[in-house]
Amino acid sequence: MTKTAMVSGVTGQDGGYLAKFLLEKGYRVFGLYRRGSTDTFSKLREHGILDRIEMLDFDLLEFSNICRLFKRYAPDEFYNLAAQSFVAASWEEPIYTTQADGMGVLYILEAIREFSPKTRLYQASTSEMFGKVQETPQTESTPFYPRSPYGISKLMAHWACVNYSESFGVFASSGILFNHESPMRGKEFVTRKITSHFARLFTGQTEEPLELGNMNAMRDWGFSGDYVEMMWKILQQDKPDTYVIATGETHTIKEFVEEVSKRCGFELRWEGSGVNEIGVNTKTGKTIVKVNPKFYRPAEVDMLIGNPEKARRELSWKVKVTFKELCAMMIDADIERAKKGTL
Ligand code: NAP
Ligand code: GDD
Repeated sequence: MTKTAMVSGVTGQDGGYLAKFLLEKGYRVFGLYRRGSTDTFSKLREHGILDRIEMLDFDLLEFSNICRLFKRYAPDEFYNLAAQSFVAASWEEPIYTTQADGMGVLYILEAIREFSPKTRLYQASTSEMFGKVQETPQTESTPFYPRSPYGISKLMAHWACVNYSESFGVFASSGILFNHESPMRGKEFVTRKITSHFARLFTGQTEEPLELGNMNAMRDWGFSGDYVEMMWKILQQDKPDTYVIATGETHTIKEFVEEVSKRCGFELRWEGSGVNEIGVNTKTGKTIVKVNPKFYRPAEVDMLIGNPEKARRELSWKVKVTFKELCAMMIDADIERAKKGTL
């Protein structure tokens, strides 16, 4: 029989890749989206899958809507990717972030418990739960120390999944995914902010320098297209569990800038330090990167690096796209878009 999967947050970066992956596996896919005044289906169109997904209204804050969905459709699998996912915004909207990313997951768990106890839930947990890291590299048993309202609310959701599995036998698993990027990444996140700006510099559409915050922060960056397969695998296991998905490598934001700059053929020289640090194009003498303290965070997550050994062992996890390949993939896609006028 055809399996059914619901994907919340289907309009986001991971939602598109996951929906495509599930369609290729033969699933009937319900895409859950929230109504807005502007079109949010562009990524699904770019993936070429919008007409193959059954789109349904969904909001993490609306318990009645969530109950109705489970009552009506009782999906085999539910992938909860919906979230206020931008860490920086979570200090400006801490209550909304907690309601959506924390309470929203409790609504889903309650609805499953009441109306669809056979549904398997994948919860999009995050390396932000490690925050001020207590151990390096981070594993499934590293103590949590979240550093933002986003991290705190995701941690609440994470423990709610563990608790509903233990208390009520709900099949609720979490992937503690480290940063993963792609050409579909939102432009507010640092990688895409860098590649979209460099694409405009490269094509001569701007001469303005790229303004960044803390360039010394380190992240373990992988490719979203690879990570969604692990979400699916996590739900195919015999019992609910938690898995770290990461590459096991970490790089600074500055290294990401350097790699993208190199791909554009720019030779970059760093001058100054701290808030006065700038990146100069050695050929033109122009400043192409500068620091703007506006982008610093009230509390920073300085360094993340995951140890995905358990996923390697139990899910056959392998890193397919390297850091260098990821940078190239993202800048190449943005240069193409810039040339076509679709950036
Ligand atoms: P994303 O691109 O920001 O997508 C977030 C999705 O959630 C969008 O479809 C958005 O809809 C939807 N959404 C936001 N608030 C909602 C609400 N109140 N009700 C219903 N839908 C709502 O995020 P992503 O990078 O694909 O990440 C997917 C999930 O993984 C998120 O939960 C994120 O926190 C988590 N995660 C991401 C990473 C990463 O590095 N990408 C790492 C670990 C965990 P609109 O299109 O309408 O805005
Ligand atoms: N966004 C942004 N913009 N970040 C900047 C900038 C800037 O101009 N300058 C420096 N950074 C630094 C941030 O301070 C942070 O240390 C790092 O770049 C990465 O920021 P983001 O790309 O916004 O991602 P994130 O690590 O905060 O969060 C992402 O990964 C989490 C997993 O660890 C998001 O996808 C979260 O949803 C996800 O849970």
